[in-house]
Formats: sequence, structure tokens, C-alpha cells
Amino acid sequence: KNIAIINGPNLNLLGTREPHLYGSATLADISARLDGIAGKHNVALSHHQHNGEGALIDTVHALRGNTDMIILNAGAYTHSSIALRDALAAVCIPFVEVHVSNVYAREPFRHHSYLSDQAVGVIAGLGTFGYEAALLFCIDYLHH
Ligand code: DQA
Repeated sequence: KNIAIINGPNLNLLGTREPHLYGSATLADISARLDGIAGKHNVALSHHQHNGEGALIDTVHALRGNTDMIILNAGAYTHSSIALRDALAAVCIPFVEVHVSNVYAREPFRHHSYLSDQAVGVIAGLGTFGYEAALLFCIDYLHH
């Protein structure tokens, strides 16, 4: 099975960006942890991060036909991007939406997501552990 991890804008700065909200783990740390889990479960991961909306959409398109599931932290595009929502709907790849912070405990503009109603599930507020939780969920989901 193939699972894609997609991170959106500013998530390349994880570890140094507002650590009170997002923690001290870098995206490379997180990727390494996820690769460790994937290796144990015999699944292949691909890692993607883009700051631009178009690049994220192109990434989603390129996954069609070669990826079984997506773990997506779309960053602020979560709250703004109908185009990213449409791309996910177009490729028909089930996805889990992840947010490091608890978006519901933050500004009201973070409470709405253009993605959540299309997601298999949503994880928010578990810190960077949320990516690991999402991966374990996806592994289980793909074996049923
Ligand atoms: C985020 C939450 C978003 O509101 C924010 O714009 C981000 C990160 C999170 O992981 O908590 O960039 O998706």
C-alpha cells in the first residue's frame, strides 16, 4: 500500500514556527517517525510539502492511480481553498485531515474547513503525534 503525506504552507517551518502552538519537532523529524512506523507495517510513504496552492493541487493530481490514501495538513489553505477541496474530490483518494494545533480553540476563522466533510476523519490538537495517529489509522483502514 502507498500512503502520501502532504503538508501545506508554512509547515516546512515546523519546529521553529510558533513552538507553543506547533511543538519543537521539525518536518524531517516527523517524516522520520512516520517512515519508522510505515516500515514496520510494510507500507510505502511519499512525503510532499508545498507552500503554494497550485503545487499542492498538482501534487494531489499526480497521486491519482498510485496512492491508496492521503494524510493532509493543508495549513491555512484548509480554511480558504475550494480548489484544493475540488482536487481531492477529483482524484477520489480517501484522506485524513490533520492539524497539529486544536484549531477549534483558536481564532474563529480556523473553525471552518473546506476539507473536513470530504475527509474520512479529522485529527486536531494532538500535536505532531497527530500525524502518527493518522498513519496508524490509515494502515488499519486500508487493511479492512
Ligand atoms: C494548522 C492550523 C491552520 O489553521 C494553520 O493555518 C496552519 C497549521 C495546524 O496544523 O494546526 O498552518 O493546519
